[in-house]
Amino acid sequence: MIRTAIVGTGGIAGVCHVPALRAQAHRAEIVAAVDVDALRAEEFAAGHGIPAVHTDLHTMLREQRPDVVHLCTPPFLHAEQAVACLEAGAWVWCEKPVALSLAELDRVEAAEGPAFAGAVFQHRYGSGA
Ligand SMILES: NC(=O)c1ccc[n+]([C@@H]2O[C@H](COP(=O)([O-])OP(=O)(O)OC[C@H]3O[C@@H](n4cnc5c(N)ncnc54)[C@H](O)[C@@H]3O)[C@@H](O)[C@H]2O)c1
Repeated sequence: MIRTAIVGTGGIAGVCHVPALRAQAHRAEIVAAVDVDALRAEEFAAGHGIPAVHTDLHTMLREQRPDVVHLCTPPFLHAEQAVACLEAGAWVWCEKPVALSLAELDRVEAAEGPAFAGAVFQHRYGSGA
């Protein structure tokens, strides 16, 4: 089973990321939820049957050893958190925008290998684009 963790347990995490992961339940499990708001994380985990709750990304990475981390935090945190995940050997599925500048994106790219980061950018496939 692919061990996944969700970081940032706000709106998009519950509306999109949990259902997407549950649709892959034959091959992926959600092992941890992380939020700086402990109560929000606890309620999210309880509501979705997620066994572990953390308020710190680094502690979660150390203790849970996820294969994939979904970053659903505010944009200013994405690059820094993506680098932390990649350095811990976890692949990253990051909400948009993955970075706030090309310099930040360079830092994410530099941290890739053997794990890699991808970003949610679903509207690129929409009719408007
Ligand atoms: N793909 C889409 O269509 C789509 C739609 C909505 C939001 N988004 C993106 O999703 C991301 C989150 O948006 P949202 O609407 O869910 O926001 P939100 O404010 O509802 O949730 C963000 C959560 O991150 C938590 N958080 C803040 N700092 C943290 C930290 N250091 N560690 C762990 N958790 C932390 C907050 O406490 C909050 O619970 C944003 O990047 C946004 O652009 C994408």
